[in-house]
Amino acid sequence: MNMMIRWPALGDLRAPARRRIPHIAWEYLDSGVGTEESLARDRAALSAITLTPRFLGGAPAPDISTTLFGKDHKLPIGVGPIGMSSLIWPGSELMLARAARDAGGIYCLSTAAGESIEAVGDAAPGSWFQLYTPNDVDMRRDLIARARTAKFEALVVTIDVPVASRRERQRRAGVAMQPKIGPAMIADFLMHPAWLAATLRRGRPSFENLSRYASAEELSQLSAFVNARLSQSVTPDLLAEIRRDWDGPLLVKGVLSPDEALVALAAGVDGIVVSNHGGRQLDPAPAAIDMLPRVAEAVAGRATILMDSGLRSGADIARALALGADAVLLGRPFLWACAAGGDAGARHAFTILQDDLRNVMHQLGCARPSDLPSRLTERPMP
Ligand code: LAC
Repeated sequence: MNMMIRWPALGDLRAPARRRIPHIAWEYLDSGVGTEESLARDRAALSAITLTPRFLGGAPAPDISTTLFGKDHKLPIGVGPIGMSSLIWPGSELMLARAARDAGGIYCLSTAAGESIEAVGDAAPGSWFQLYTPNDVDMRRDLIARARTAKFEALVVTIDVPVASRRERQRRAGVAMQPKIGPAMIADFLMHPAWLAATLRRGRPSFENLSRYASAEELSQLSAFVNARLSQSVTPDLLAEIRRDWDGPLLVKGVLSPDEALVALAAGVDGIVVSNHGGRQLDPAPAAIDMLPRVAEAVAGRATILMDSGLRSGADIARALALGADAVLLGRPFLWACAAGGDAGARHAFTILQDDLRNVMHQLGCARPSDLPSRLTERPMP
């Protein structure tokens, strides 16, 4: 059946995805930190923002193409970095990288993904690479060199994981890249035959980017590995060092305060991703959308601004663009799409998002994303 009829909205992909993957994978994807207040706060803050249309200026067909770091993109929309993507849906990294390439959007591969830098670079040159900064300088330089060799376009340094967070749902579900598989988990896998078959075809998920630096044993517990090997805090000096090692566009991800955006700017970054890590790190964190206009104001055009955390529709993307983002990233919904519909699902997610964003802009009477700020019903507090 036509996907647009079966799944007309991104949210329609959530329930089929949940049905098709085992509990452990769902809990990893869906959960937030602690009591999940920050997850809820992102959603509440987004829906509180209204945009007021103007009808009498004509109804121009919207053009949503954009230029980021000197490169033209058909859409200001991308896939944010997703750890353990292949545990959630086998092969989802390549599906999403290709879908992004063909749609003219962005794909950002996570350090903690299940597909290698080299494989994604081959399938979709020009993707972005997200770096968790290893404590070990050789490992860090090697990851950066691999991204450069594989023709990645931009490097995105995540700053908001000084230590693995306490994700209680994930602990209860026994989340690990190579979980301890007992009878209950086997029964669960057997009840998800499409996932199981795809997993058996592809092979057990692993950390393809990290496997050359650590034993399988070390990697089997993601949070212990993050704490032991990837927890170097990202200081301005470290950012400046990375700046020297990477000559392409450099972004920092996880910025929630205007002050830190300025520190990152001074260290030489080209882009800022305003994010609370999809509500996965700090429960009392502010909603990313609430901090976006403050960061944008402080940055004042000196860096490219992206935003993620809680975006679920074209309307949400319009809100983020209105509040100062040049482009946006989404995570969970793209994995719903892969789990619900595989390769075609990944492409479908891009189709939904671009149609939806264009339609919202058309309703608002906006020909270009730069018209969106004037449609904010209320200007955000400075
Ligand atoms: C997460 C880490 C891997 O959010 O980024 O699960």
